[in-house]
Amino acid sequence: MEYIKLGDSGITVSRLAFGCEQLGGYAWGDIDLQETCRAVEEAVDCGINFFDTSDTYGPHESEKNLARALGSQRKNVVISSKFGVRLRDDKTAYYDSSPAWLDRALEGSLRRLGTDYIDLYFVHYPDGFTPLEDTIHALDSKVAEGKIRCYGISNVTPAQFSHWRHSSCSAIQLEYSLANRSNESHLHEISRSSIASPMVYGVLGQGILTGRYRSDTTFAQNDRRRHERYVNFHGDKLTRNIQIAQKLQNMGTIIQHTASQIAVRWVLDTLPRSIAIAGIKRRDQLHDLRMSLGWNLSTEELVEISEF
Ligand SMILES: NC(=O)c1ccc[n+]([C@@H]2O[C@H](COP(=O)([O-])OP(=O)(O)OC[C@H]3O[C@@H](n4cnc5c(N)ncnc54)[C@H](OP(=O)(O)O)[C@@H]3O)[C@@H](O)[C@H]2O)c1
Repeated sequence: MEYIKLGDSGITVSRLAFGCEQLGGYAWGDIDLQETCRAVEEAVDCGINFFDTSDTYGPHESEKNLARALGSQRKNVVISSKFGVRLRDDKTAYYDSSPAWLDRALEGSLRRLGTDYIDLYFVHYPDGFTPLEDTIHALDSKVAEGKIRCYGISNVTPAQFSHWRHSSCSAIQLEYSLANRSNESHLHEISRSSIASPMVYGVLGQGILTGRYRSDTTFAQNDRRRHERYVNFHGDKLTRNIQIAQKLQNMGTIIQHTASQIAVRWVLDTLPRSIAIAGIKRRDQLHDLRMSLGWNLSTEELVEISEF
């Protein structure tokens, strides 16, 4: 296992975080949630101590299922959750990072997680109108109250992050993978100039980098990836991603790792201060992904993949 400090919080986390959106059971196809809960239990047994959820995953179900799966292990692990995505009655989403909503959302998450503190609490998306200093002040107050141990920000532009740079922000969550490198320079800049830990999601490109999918793959009605906004699975991007996955599989036969393991390792080695969050549905996926840890890609291999 590989561990790293989370920002300057003093909290130690595994460099592979268990992504719990799938544990919410919503829009990732048919999921056997009992099996996902077993994967959570086994992750703890094998040293993964970092679990990433949100009030909006499910919604609410991921936090409840995580609490059930962790049971008495809660005190031995680090939980990140998020607030700031709200649903209207018609189920359309909007963002709210106001202190008033933070107050209510945090109480809800604490209740569902069955805990009296959340280790790392994220603003899921800045709402674009609450002054950032108001949100930061409210988060600092929650740290002082002991309800959260530290906080982070997710899905921010470089300009928005410049406001957070001088806060006690411990982590920043952005999407990054071989299938989506649009945040690459932003993440390198954060790594260089901020104490916040880069936490990267979508490291498997929502599954496409595992080599499991083909150009004629179709997804079930209840799987988000059938929609065009999941760009990794559509059009030219799909064609390109299949080539990348094939490249990883070819390299994998030489270096004795799966495409998924190389995709995760590439992120961890490209951003040495980072944590990779991978969405896990089953124990076999956990068994595969834990083998992303404890080794490195050589400089030549990193260049070969990065420049492919
Ligand atoms: N901050 C944010 O706004 C934000 C946004 C998105 C996600 N996240 C967090 O990041 C986590 C991960 O992101 P993500 O789930 O979107 O994408 P991801 O980790 O790139 O992909 C997850 C998908 O890959 C497949 N997979 C996982 N392990 C595999 C393995 N070993 N072999 C083959 N396939 C495997 C699974 O789907 P199939 O088996 O169905 O292919 C799984 O649902 C989420 O759970 C969540 O905690 C945060």
